Amino acid sequence: MREFFEYKDGQLYCESVPVKEIVRRFGTPLYIYSKASFLYRFKALKDAFDREGLKPLICYSIKANSNLSVLNTLKKAGAGFDVVSGGEIYRAMQVGGSANKCVYAGVGKRREDIKMALEWGILMFNVESEAELELIDAVAARMKKKARVALRINPDVDARTHDYITTAKKENKFGIDLYTAEQIFARQKQYKNVKIIGIHIHIGSQIVDTRPYAQALKKVERFIKLVSKKYDAGLKYINIGGGLGITYNDEKVDSPEVFAKRVSPYVKRLGLKLIMEPGRFIAGNSGIFVCRVIYVKKTPAKNFVIVDGAMNDLIRPSLYKAYHRIWPVAPVSQEEFVCDVVGPVCESGDFFAKDRRLPIVGPGELLAVFSAGAYGFVMASNYNSRPLPAEVLVDGDKVHLVRRRQGYRDMLRLERVI
Ligand SMILES: Cc1ncc(COP(=O)(O)O)c(C=O)c1O
Repeated sequence: MREFFEYKDGQLYCESVPVKEIVRRFGTPLYIYSKASFLYRFKALKDAFDREGLKPLICYSIKANSNLSVLNTLKKAGAGFDVVSGGEIYRAMQVGGSANKCVYAGVGKRREDIKMALEWGILMFNVESEAELELIDAVAARMKKKARVALRINPDVDARTHDYITTAKKENKFGIDLYTAEQIFARQKQYKNVKIIGIHIHIGSQIVDTRPYAQALKKVERFIKLVSKKYDAGLKYINIGGGLGITYNDEKVDSPEVFAKRVSPYVKRLGLKLIMEPGRFIAGNSGIFVCRVIYVKKTPAKNFVIVDGAMNDLIRPSLYKAYHRIWPVAPVSQEEFVCDVVGPVCESGDFFAKDRRLPIVGPGELLAVFSAGAYGFVMASNYNSRPLPAEVLVDGDKVHLVRRRQGYRDMLRLERVI
């Protein structure tokens, strides 16, 4: 895959702009995104499936990176959206997303979110339980509408990824087991304001070996054949969710071509329209996080590089012990040392890297934390009363501030003193 963050003449560029120059204008800590990268990765996935003769609807998963300019970029490229909350529906509407290209998953959809989705006229709900199906039916009845739904199946397969992001094992909270799903088809006529039009799976995230998709689809194919025959199911869509991984370190990730070849035989045999919901694959390597070294602290046990970014800005290392490549934006020293890269937050879990070999850095130098475009800013918080970082979108030689840095006043705006 092509990279849009590259070193040239000893310093890091995003597309054709030196990262140092962007930081001079917008400060640190800072998220920097490459527009070309988002588009390239979206197209790579689309082309791979098109070449297999499938024309999938690609619903970009908003949760990975929900910045409005990112959403607008992908919408203009033809993407629909995968949403999981009223807030994400609102974001999709704000950029003029097409409701008929939106799918809505999540185990805890509230009445008001369901209403909002029906008012907007989304393509379908990905239903995660029978209780939810009942509520959708009731809300739709009150609104005199017919809700389109897909049943999210939990196929009980292991996506072989981090425990926190595997979603299709029977002990996970997501989806409906095959037995219950069949019961729902048997009773489908009692849901008068619901039409089941698809089957959905999402087996996990950061999946580098795509064989578990085939495993899941094998079970789903059998199930679809059964319910089509037995209950005259009349399905139109098969949604394979998101999950395709990226290279953070040295992982060998199946290419979009391998992924498409793995999945397409099942989809073709079923004769259903394919939907997918990639998030990380599109956004992850389309962004970096940049922070500045404040101090280098040497203790008898360790070298600590203390930076101005922290777990509140990028929580993946603290939350999942996730690996992010880190390197100086413009390395100065030829010599290296082993260090922990840590933030100012008052938690020992506040780190970006442990025992990492880096060129020796000193106060004022900039560090780039790579592969931070997905599940980065979206998980940021104000912990330790640290204002949220700014976000910048680079487009060729142009740099756009797409979310300004939060100030102290912004941070306190919704509070009052009594
Ligand atoms: C239902 C659903 N679809 C899509 C995604 C996006 O996953 P990824 O970013 O791994 O592609 C998720 C992530 O949690 C999800 O829960």
